[in-house]
Amino acid sequence: MESFVFETREKEDESTFSSKIEKIPFGGDYNPEQWPEDVWKEDMRLFKLAGIDCVTLNVFSWAALQPSEEQYNFDRLDRIMEMVRANGLKVILATSTAVHPAWMARKYPEVLRTDFEGRKRKFGDRHNSCPNSPVFQKYAARLAGKLARRYQNYENIIAWHVSNEYGGECYCENCEKAFRKWLQEKYKTLEELNRVWNTFFWGHTFYDWEEIPAPNLLSEHFERERTTFQGISLDYRRFFSDSLLNCYRMEYEKIKEYTPQLPVTTNMMGFYKLLDYQKWANYLDFASWDNYPANEAPPSVAAMNHDLMRGLKQGAPFVLMEQTPSVTNWLSYNALKRPGVMRLWSYQAIAHGSDSVLFFQMRRSIGACEKFHGAVIDHAGHEYTRVFREVKALGKELEKLGSRTLGTRVKARVAILVDWDNWWALEYSAGPSCDLKYLEEVQRYYDAFYEKNIPVDIISVSDPLEEYTLVVAPALYMVKEGYAGKLEAFVKRGGCFVTTFFSGIVDEHDLVCEGGYPGKLRELLGIWVEETDALPPDQKNSFRWRGKEYECRLLCDILYTRKAKALAFYEKDFYAGAPVLTKNRYGDGYAYYVATRGEQDFYRDFAAMVTKEMGIDPIWEEVPGVEICARQNRKHKYIFFLNHREEPVKITALEGGKSLLEDVSYGVGECFQVEPKGVVILQIS
Ligand code: GLA
Ligand code: ZN
Repeated sequence: MESFVFETREKEDESTFSSKIEKIPFGGDYNPEQWPEDVWKEDMRLFKLAGIDCVTLNVFSWAALQPSEEQYNFDRLDRIMEMVRANGLKVILATSTAVHPAWMARKYPEVLRTDFEGRKRKFGDRHNSCPNSPVFQKYAARLAGKLARRYQNYENIIAWHVSNEYGGECYCENCEKAFRKWLQEKYKTLEELNRVWNTFFWGHTFYDWEEIPAPNLLSEHFERERTTFQGISLDYRRFFSDSLLNCYRMEYEKIKEYTPQLPVTTNMMGFYKLLDYQKWANYLDFASWDNYPANEAPPSVAAMNHDLMRGLKQGAPFVLMEQTPSVTNWLSYNALKRPGVMRLWSYQAIAHGSDSVLFFQMRRSIGACEKFHGAVIDHAGHEYTRVFREVKALGKELEKLGSRTLGTRVKARVAILVDWDNWWALEYSAGPSCDLKYLEEVQRYYDAFYEKNIPVDIISVSDPLEEYTLVVAPALYMVKEGYAGKLEAFVKRGGCFVTTFFSGIVDEHDLVCEGGYPGKLRELLGIWVEETDALPPDQKNSFRWRGKEYECRLLCDILYTRKAKALAFYEKDFYAGAPVLTKNRYGDGYAYYVATRGEQDFYRDFAAMVTKEMGIDPIWEEVPGVEICARQNRKHKYIFFLNHREEPVKITALEGGKSLLEDVSYGVGECFQVEPKGVVILQIS
């Protein structure tokens, strides 16, 4: 087993989320504005009963707070703030700017978005404001400032929650103008812009900044994900992510004027393609996100999302801002979370680095599209429901757990690189296969480590590599300036790097790196890829590695080794006998190239081989269906056993420890049981 001495910050600085809490905050989105005040009192009673100690307030109240351009009215929010303070609740205070008021849309149509098809929207829905509307910017920032000034002395506020789930897109004239400005700042001259977009192709040369269109279905796109000019579409993604970030930052600045001591965040959505969260993270005081896995998603999907969120702030704990206690309303089939699953997934979040368990929502709406979304308090209105009982039981446990896990870290020696620009560029590129989806390739590698109980950090290109032993970069199509050098230095010092087909093809402008694939990674990998075959879904090839046969699909690179050693070869087609897996010694380390998409068994075996070779131990030996994670600080290691199966599982203690939720100690060799959908947390000192 691995040693677990690992640095955590000795003392939290005063403006971090951890410095504001003594235990795991438990509660979530609370919308009392939807009910008369006598219901509020009942809510307070029920919250106490369930151990709820933290509410997120004011997420969608802009229309109430500002009934017209000239008027503001905080009376009701004042009463809510007073009430929750009097009841000892902590508050995450939202700024309400995720929906503009209807009067604003009428008076200033510029706040409305124009969609991908080029249609100007009317008032409706939410997350509906154009981020480049000066009117929206002005009033959103003003509201954030007014809220911060008004409630600055409420010591029960533990964080600010700006807007809500920023997202979507806009192609209006204000956006188009702002895009041109953004481009001008980035490229300075049209000559440079024409170069990086390769506009000599199809005679797209621009002679004036004003000629540049917003790339949507009216201009460069022929499908949502397909564009004739990847350069312009890629830049629009970057620009639009920056545009929304800019709105967030305007509110952030206003809030900090009055409450510099309070941490500020916005709730993210895991791997949400439209926003470059790795860039956003620089402006968040802590990361937070809303976890709504699909019914059929295996638990490793939520795990990978949690790990992304933890990675955004270099391993610092994140906040689980929302999850449903029972059911969602927006899927085609909104299955109930089975008994125990809400608890299991709450601990899964904690195991991966969350310092909170928060729900959407406290009380179930009676009207509009979320009236069938799960809540702690159901339409029945009382505490005698399955969901309430489960919430209450978890509330008790979290009280007992106290501050133990707060601020503890996950220690990973394996990193998987994820890069938003790469994601955008790769999926905008027409060819070689429309089935190539970046996250699917990432998830395949992630799953292989996950199943082995080997913790993984999801890192960005700007994160340092020194702390890792193994760095995996699936489908690293875009290799940005300087990154190949960073990888080379990492491997030279003894690290191990793994990459795959469709890597090293382009630079940060989506311009192909000439001289042979995988471009700037050629040296490090010691290979040259000449061609790539895209297999239709019903076709496959195969290869044999260490005596075992594996199928492969999707893409098959045809490559030549330069310095690398070929470890396995294709078995079929005209490239039978060409290398499919290569290993290159580089300095004190190794670089592997996986030239095709293997079946999942291959990734398992490959991860086992490479972690063994690099001396990377799992947290615990494999127990099928049981996810085993660890968080630690200087004093303790907390090992989480999360049983995702329907059957109980017996585990033999490999290390002695105390089971925190049951208060029982186990010596080495003793057995303990993890119930179906159950959780055991072992504290090892
Ligand atoms: C999102 C939003 C919430 C709510 C939930 C429902 O996460 O932030 O306001 O709509 O979805 O699942
Ligand atoms: Zn716009």
